[in-house]
Amino acid sequence: MSSAVTLVFLSVTDLSQFDLRHLRSAFGSFLTGVTVVTTREKSGTPRGFTANSFTSVSLDPPMLLICIDKSAESCDVFTESPGFAINVLAEDQAETSGLFASKRTDKFDAVQWTGSQSGFPLLDGVSAWFDCKRHQVVDAGDHVIVIGEVSAYEFNDRIGLGYVRGGYMSLSLERSAAKTAGAGSSAVVGAIIEIDGKIWLEKNSETGKFQVPASGLDYTPGSLNRFQSYLMEKNISASISSLFAVFESEESGQQSIYYRARGEFSREKVQNSEKIQLFGYDDIPWDNISSDALVIMLKRYVTESRRQRFGVYFGSDRDGSVKTLSENDDD
Ligand SMILES: Cc1cc2nc3c(=O)[nH]c(=O)nc-3n(C[C@H](O)[C@H](O)[C@H](O)COP(=O)(O)O)c2cc1C
Repeated sequence: MSSAVTLVFLSVTDLSQFDLRHLRSAFGSFLTGVTVVTTREKSGTPRGFTANSFTSVSLDPPMLLICIDKSAESCDVFTESPGFAINVLAEDQAETSGLFASKRTDKFDAVQWTGSQSGFPLLDGVSAWFDCKRHQVVDAGDHVIVIGEVSAYEFNDRIGLGYVRGGYMSLSLERSAAKTAGAGSSAVVGAIIEIDGKIWLEKNSETGKFQVPASGLDYTPGSLNRFQSYLMEKNISASISSLFAVFESEESGQQSIYYRARGEFSREKVQNSEKIQLFGYDDIPWDNISSDALVIMLKRYVTESRRQRFGVYFGSDRDGSVKTLSENDDD
């Protein structure tokens, strides 16, 4: 995968000058699962929040940890409670993650749950849970590390929800797309590449219509590797973030796979740059796009990008459904 790399060189004395958003983005490169950590107030009221800082620590004795932001509403409840439960979310629980990352006061009314042996909330549909006694609380900058000793646990074969660079990821969806887009496939593989808030469209010299960059459009076999080579040949630097659409043409049976990507553009470097044009969301030439399926996909992209909630479309070029795996800027 070709990627835009940002290098930051700072000496130790420059530490106070870290741009915190930038540092958070760097930490966000680490792909994690997503958990909901729960406990109860002294009064018995259930409390919970979304956390991806979960780490297994020790097998014997069994221990794990999570890090809680000191500014979280529930920080004191967690550090003072005798224990907590970790719920490892399954890949269809992105909405639950969003719910528990919110400030809603009725979080537990919106999900099904039961109490663990120690009474901490265990959410339905998770891929694993751990019931823990509080072992130690360690002060760590703007967070506290809460180490728990596991007193009971369960897991099943549901695949966990993934989280990277502020967006959710479903391993099954990625796998099925990767299989379709793998070497030797004849799928169209492309990406909606955004540069400075504009979408990059290429003009097809034969039809005069615009399309998003892709390999396999000219009836030659496409694949993710070929698409990446295609971008490299053109000197296009793009960082492919997430899957956006996987569909099959009802007429020809051809599969198409499109990703979302952010790119960098240097007109001097890019070959045939006159064929490439950047369009703001309000300037896309809708009447001059190469196919109806592409129009629908681009319109969905514009709507979802404005809301910063992206989904992945699965189906045919006429009928299918969008699975929502929303973006998040909270952590
Ligand atoms: C995917 C994801 C992971 C998060 N991980 C953590 C985390 O590890 N620690 C933390 O303190 N907050 C984390 N947050 C943010 C909290 O869930 C969020 O601030 C929540 O509102 C805290 O709830 P509270 O203020 O009701 O306690 C995460 C949010 C998301 C979406």
